[in-house]
Amino acid sequence: MTILKKLSIKNENKSFKYSIFIGENFIQLLENNFFKILNGKKIYVIYDEFFKKFKMNKNMIEEFENLSKRLSAEVFFFKIKSKDKYKNFERLSILLNFILSNRIHRDSLIISIGGGVTGDLVGFASSIVLRGVKCIHIPTTLLSQVDSSVGGKTGINTKHGKNLVGTFYQPEGILIDINFLKTLPKRELLAGFAEVIKYSFIYDKKFFNYLKKNTEDIIKLKSPYIQNIIFKSCQIKARIVSMDEKEQGIRGILNFGHTFAHAFENLINYDNKKLIHGEAVAIGMACAFRLSVILQLCSKTEAEKCMSLISKFNLPTKIKDIKGIKLTSKKLFDKFYLDKKVKNGKITLILFNEIGSVLIKNDVDERVLKKFFNELINE
Ligand SMILES: NC(=O)c1ccc[n+]([C@@H]2O[C@H](COP(=O)([O-])OP(=O)(O)OC[C@H]3O[C@@H](n4cnc5c(N)ncnc54)[C@H](O)[C@@H]3O)[C@@H](O)[C@H]2O)c1
Repeated sequence: MTILKKLSIKNENKSFKYSIFIGENFIQLLENNFFKILNGKKIYVIYDEFFKKFKMNKNMIEEFENLSKRLSAEVFFFKIKSKDKYKNFERLSILLNFILSNRIHRDSLIISIGGGVTGDLVGFASSIVLRGVKCIHIPTTLLSQVDSSVGGKTGINTKHGKNLVGTFYQPEGILIDINFLKTLPKRELLAGFAEVIKYSFIYDKKFFNYLKKNTEDIIKLKSPYIQNIIFKSCQIKARIVSMDEKEQGIRGILNFGHTFAHAFENLINYDNKKLIHGEAVAIGMACAFRLSVILQLCSKTEAEKCMSLISKFNLPTKIKDIKGIKLTSKKLFDKFYLDKKVKNGKITLILFNEIGSVLIKNDVDERVLKKFFNELINE
């Protein structure tokens, strides 16, 4: 059995509909579920550099080549440098040149296989090459399995900030092979849990209790815990995205902790040695809890319960946990306001109410924020 779980993601006006398969053998998942759209086509497999680093590339390439023979398809391979600092215009241009020089057709298929950096870059390239070519995501980090591959946001970073150039582009499907998590470095695995626990904070108290009760088994990737939490996370994200694909309203709650996180990532110049995205989100959520207490939007006890779940997953909660960050409250404030969520000079913040419920606020007084930033950097 290769499919362990399957869920469907579609929006109300039916402009997109696709499935997320959670299983154990991505090639079989691909062949069994996408035969029709792959058959006889040109397939561009854009893969994460970890395959080479872990000497898994030969095997992966061979499996795709065998599949392409069974499908009478033609397959091309391209390796991505998967650090966030390479999710940029230059790498996008190199990738597009590769795809175009290998004469892509409108009915070709692009497959991303890798973490969130690979998925975001490949999703963006798919959405703009020939004004849109079908793509399938095979996410290989926990973070990309539970978050970045789901929902159709694609994009790249610029010197002005993270993910500031991109598109909404829904894939044909998402294949989650949990075996990929076995090679994932512990730090990357833990960072993925930041987005998992985020879903419980913003949407689902029962899920919060499940995560709290089973933390150790989840971190050890034990069955059925790991499958259950991936499924639940994708289900929550799919539900929210189905209601609001283009982030006009409720989808904004998925950004809980992210305005802080993006500012931190920008301040350390996306240097993965110092901070990775999930860690930034963990610290960002801790900041959001503290600000919510200051603004009397939630009780201190409720916020502390959430912060202790972040720590239980061995994730950081303080700015001083970021290696080598040099910060003034002005710098932090300026970066904060670079965020996409600034409208008419007002910043939209996702703040905490109680476990399973958050608020979208755009009337937080700048003076309160400045004072809060001062406290944050001086602690
Ligand atoms: N599009 C969205 O909605 C969305 C949501 C959240 C995050 N993101 C983006 O996702 C990116 C972060 O993604 P990420 O956390 O997956 O990081 P990543 O893509 O940088 O991958 C992390 C590291 O793990 C390696 N790796 C990947 N899979 C592996 C495996 N199975 N075994 C061993 N090593 C493996 C990669 O080579 C890389 O070194 C950021 O750019 C962030 O902005 C996008």
